Amino acid sequence: MTFSAKIVLNNWMRRPFLAANWKMNKTIPEALDFMHAFLPSVAGVRDADIVIAPPFTSLFAIAERFVGTNVSLAAQNVFYEEKGAFTGEVSPLMLKDAGCDFVITGHSERRQYFHESDEIVNRKIKLSLKHGLAVICCIGETLAERDNGKTFSVLAAQIAGGLAGVAPQNLVIAYEPVWAIGTGKTATAAQAQEAHAFIRKELHSLYGDDAESLRILYGGSVTPENIESLMACPDVDGALVGGASLTAAGFEKIVKFTRGNTL
Ligand code: PGA
Repeated sequence: MTFSAKIVLNNWMRRPFLAANWKMNKTIPEALDFMHAFLPSVAGVRDADIVIAPPFTSLFAIAERFVGTNVSLAAQNVFYEEKGAFTGEVSPLMLKDAGCDFVITGHSERRQYFHESDEIVNRKIKLSLKHGLAVICCIGETLAERDNGKTFSVLAAQIAGGLAGVAPQNLVIAYEPVWAIGTGKTATAAQAQEAHAFIRKELHSLYGDDAESLRILYGGSVTPENIESLMACPDVDGALVGGASLTAAGFEKIVKFTRGNTL
């Protein structure tokens, strides 16, 4: 199984990993315009992994723009069967075919609106990895769960269920507290670090020392203004960015969050 040479997954350095999740935004011409501005602007960034997840309709249309660049293409969702009578669904094989290297699984919007359980997330992850797609697996608690002191038990259950029988290779975790998504309410750096440290501890019990090399992204109202303080947390290894990734200039600033990246 070969993965894109541009992505160095699970390296011990845990180099920054910045992913854009466009959700249900942008037509094909809008996606092409974004790429036209964005790709040259980050072409000199060598010390971060950069991923963009457009809607399904734009994947194939923009895939060729990524060839030979330092940016990888991701899908926002996938189905857990290879092919067959599953109207409206898209398989990992089709995503590879369209030019994807990554897929996002278990996003809270899929869990909330489309009733995705940890078991479904688990099936999606396994089939995606089998077919050579690296996975960004999202987990996170709702506000009610946090208020009821259930943050850690929810995260533990999502990890145990979503990652059962899944090897750590080609896996990235995204911690996205549901109350922080699209609300402008970012978790404080301390809240993010506390959750990320807990997640890493859980990953340790699943994967042993391999947990040290797994990237754990933070997601939820990440902006060019707060990226640096979040990334300063020892267990925050990157970000999954929704709203602020919709403009090339905004996502460029997030990718270049450190001084060294201002190329
Ligand atoms: P947001 O979305 O940055 O708009 O809060 C993040 C996400 O849902 O991945």
